[in-house]
Amino acid sequence: MHIEPTETQALVAKTARDYAERTLKPLAATLDREERFPLAQLRELADLGMMGVNVPAELGGAEAGAVAYSLAMTEIARGCASTAVTMAVTNMVAEVITRFGTEAQRERHVPKITSGDYVAGAFALSEPEAGSDPGSMRTTAEKVPGGYVLRGQKQWITSGAHAGVVVVWARTGGPGTKGLSAFLVEGGTPGMKAGKHEDKLGLRASNTVPITFDDCAVTEDALLGGEGGGFKIAMMALDGGRIGIASQALGIATAALDEAADYARNRKQFGKPIGDFQGVKWPLADSRTELDAARLLALRAAWLKQEGRPFSREAAMAKLFSSEAANRIVSRCLQIHGGYGYVRDFAIERHYRDVRVTTIYEGTSEIQRTVIARAELRG
Ligand code: CAA
Repeated sequence: MHIEPTETQALVAKTARDYAERTLKPLAATLDREERFPLAQLRELADLGMMGVNVPAELGGAEAGAVAYSLAMTEIARGCASTAVTMAVTNMVAEVITRFGTEAQRERHVPKITSGDYVAGAFALSEPEAGSDPGSMRTTAEKVPGGYVLRGQKQWITSGAHAGVVVVWARTGGPGTKGLSAFLVEGGTPGMKAGKHEDKLGLRASNTVPITFDDCAVTEDALLGGEGGGFKIAMMALDGGRIGIASQALGIATAALDEAADYARNRKQFGKPIGDFQGVKWPLADSRTELDAARLLALRAAWLKQEGRPFSREAAMAKLFSSEAANRIVSRCLQIHGGYGYVRDFAIERHYRDVRVTTIYEGTSEIQRTVIARAELRG
């Protein structure tokens, strides 16, 4: 058993870490305050191979594998969690098209994602009335000569206003999960319209919008996979996506812990650094321990995925534990900052807001527990 990264994995992680340190970290507070979508930074990340870390080189990807992707995601999230989620969903879209697309679909979209020509990809599964239960979605795709017409509304779509391609799930058949299909809809397609940007607690520099489909016509070749196969595509994509969100949560928690340790070294009360007090030492120790445990779970899930082995349960465990642990860690780290943690002068205030959503999106903690428990009960 090797717990050391390979040369490639270490290089990808270092590339991401250097970029995050140099460019994202100094910019993150401004992006957050101005709710500014990081257009230029996303293009630079594409140039560094970060928009297709686990995508074959022939499609412009870095072909570095799922473990390298997890490491890179953690490093980018240390710098800016908003940029990281945009990168996470874009990688998920690049991977889903690579895996389930026809050769023509792959060649049409994936190189544009990996090169930054499309600034982002979007994943339009959730709806106002269908969040944890996507099988109940109402968006329809009516079959017409030469293609389909999409009608309905999607909700909480990351990068929905900027995406070059949106993977859209819609009902082509009867009720339930078997009636769903997936479509690749290009940004700017008439009838597909992004709504008002959500006024979020955190990740304020990421773009989150509802999207309406008002008689949105797409050609037959927009269908991804077969008719009725959409739900399984969504679930398989989310299995990988959950490793990404686990890794993002780890990145936010790592930044928080580094900052709390630094604060504890320098802040003096009662004539000595507060890090000398047990009340500060123990939360630091608990946080580092939980962080490493979470990191191992995420890396195991990524490794299983990379090996082509089943990883759905392990990805759910990684997402559940990492996101919950990251929330605990960031909260403790804010406490160490005292009153200074409650104001915007310190980055911990932003981490506290940013980390909150990690137990919610790409499947809530309750949904992860459902996935894990079902696997357990199947035996
Ligand atoms: N891989 C392959 N197939 C899978 C699968 C997986 N991981 N999970 C389920 N399936 C298959 C099942 O085997 C089943 O197949 P058969 O019909 O052939 O038996 C079929 O899919 C239906 O499965 P279930 O009966 O288990 O479906 P369900 O309706 O009970 O739902 C669920 C299961 C796990 C709760 C699922 O609905 C789920 O994951 N919900 C959460 C949705 C979610 O994560 N949304 C996130 C939105 S995207 C987002 O947040 C992105 C962003 O912008 C940041």
